[in-house]
Amino acid sequence: MKTLAYFYQKEREIKEKGGKVIGLTLTSPTFPSPPLKKRVLRLLPHSFSYSLSGGNLNLRETLANFYSKKWNIKLSKENVFIGNGGKEILFILLNLILKDGGEVIIISPYWSSYPRIVKRTKGNFKIFKTLEKDNFYPNVESLAKEINKKTKAIIINTPNNPTGKILREKDIKFLVEIVKKKNILLISDEVYEIYDFEGLYCSFLKYFSKNIFCVFSASKIFSMCGWRLGWCFGDPKLIEEMKDYQADLSTSPHTLSQLVVNEILNDKNLQKYLEKNRELAKERRDIAVDFFSKKRIDFIFPEGGIALFVKIPQRFRKASQFAKILLEREKVSVAPGEIFGEEKFFRINLAVNIEDLKEGLRRIAKFY
Ligand SMILES: Cc1ncc(COP(=O)(O)O)c(C=O)c1O
Repeated sequence: MKTLAYFYQKEREIKEKGGKVIGLTLTSPTFPSPPLKKRVLRLLPHSFSYSLSGGNLNLRETLANFYSKKWNIKLSKENVFIGNGGKEILFILLNLILKDGGEVIIISPYWSSYPRIVKRTKGNFKIFKTLEKDNFYPNVESLAKEINKKTKAIIINTPNNPTGKILREKDIKFLVEIVKKKNILLISDEVYEIYDFEGLYCSFLKYFSKNIFCVFSASKIFSMCGWRLGWCFGDPKLIEEMKDYQADLSTSPHTLSQLVVNEILNDKNLQKYLEKNRELAKERRDIAVDFFSKKRIDFIFPEGGIALFVKIPQRFRKASQFAKILLEREKVSVAPGEIFGEEKFFRINLAVNIEDLKEGLRRIAKFY
C-alpha cells in the first residue's frame, strides 16, 4: 500500500523537475498567518535557550485563560501541556497511557497517524468502523459497547480529518458520562476547532474532567505547520508525567514559536483573524461541494475541517490505484483512503489557493 509520504514525495519530484502538479495531499493550510515578521525580529534575541518541559509559564497561563473563557470553565496552567505540534502531544500521551499495554479505540475513517503512533507503543488499537451509509458519523452507543477491560482510551477527532464530520453536543455528553463511569480517558483531537461551517462544533472542554483530554494546534488555526506548536488540556497528574517524558524526548517545545504564539493569542484582532480563516475555508468547501454535486460525484458533506472525502469511480478497486494513475495522468496528487482505513474514498486538502483548487477539481472530474 502506498503511504501518504509516497504521494507527497511524487508530487515534490514532479515539481522539482519543473512540472506543474496540483498538490492536494497534505492537510496543511495555506491561509495567511497572523502578522509575524515584526514579532519574530523583536522576540528573536529571547529565543536561543530551551524553554521549560511542558511549555513556558506565560503561554500556559494564556492558553488556560483563553480556553476557560471560550468554554466557560476553569482551567489552570497545571492543566496545560505544550508540545512540538499536536503530533508530539499524541505521541507522548499514547506512549504513557499504553506503557503497560492495553488498548485504545480508534474510529475509522481516522487520521492516519493514530494507528501508526499506537504501533510504536506497548499497546494495541481496536478499530470502530463507521459506515458510508451513516456518512461516517459514529453511533456513540455502539461505540460505548466496544469498551472492555483492556480499554485505556477512546480517540475522537472533531471536526474530523478526513470526513469533515463534527460530533454533536448530545453525543459528547453521552461519551463524557461513559468515560467517567468506565474510568477511561477520552482523547479529543480538536486541531480543526475553528473550521466549523454549520455552527455544530462543541469542545469536550465544555465538560472537562480528569477523564477528558483535548488537543489543539497552531498548525491548523494559524496556518503555522512548520512552527511545530500544539497544546492540550488534561488532568494535572497526567500533564506532569507528560512533561517528564518530553524532558527526555525534545527537552521542551520550540522557544520562538511559544513566544510568538503567546503574542498572537493576546492580540486584540485575534477573533477577527480566526473568523477570516474560517470564512476562507468555508468558501473553498462551498466551491468543492457545488462542483462535485453538479458533476454527480459522491462525497461526504464536510460540516467542518479543511478536507473533502470523495468516493473513487467504480472502475477502480482501491483508492491508492486511483490516486497513482490520477497523479500520473492528470498531475493532481490526493491522499488515498486506505491510509485512513477506507479504501473506496480519497481525501483532498481544500485549504489551498482557489485557482489550484478549481483546477484540481476540474482535472479530477475529467479523470472520472
Ligand atoms: C487530525 C489531526 N490531528 C493532529 C494533527 C497534528 O498536527 P501538528 O502536529 O502539526 O500540530 C494533524 C495534522 O495533520 C491532524 O490532521
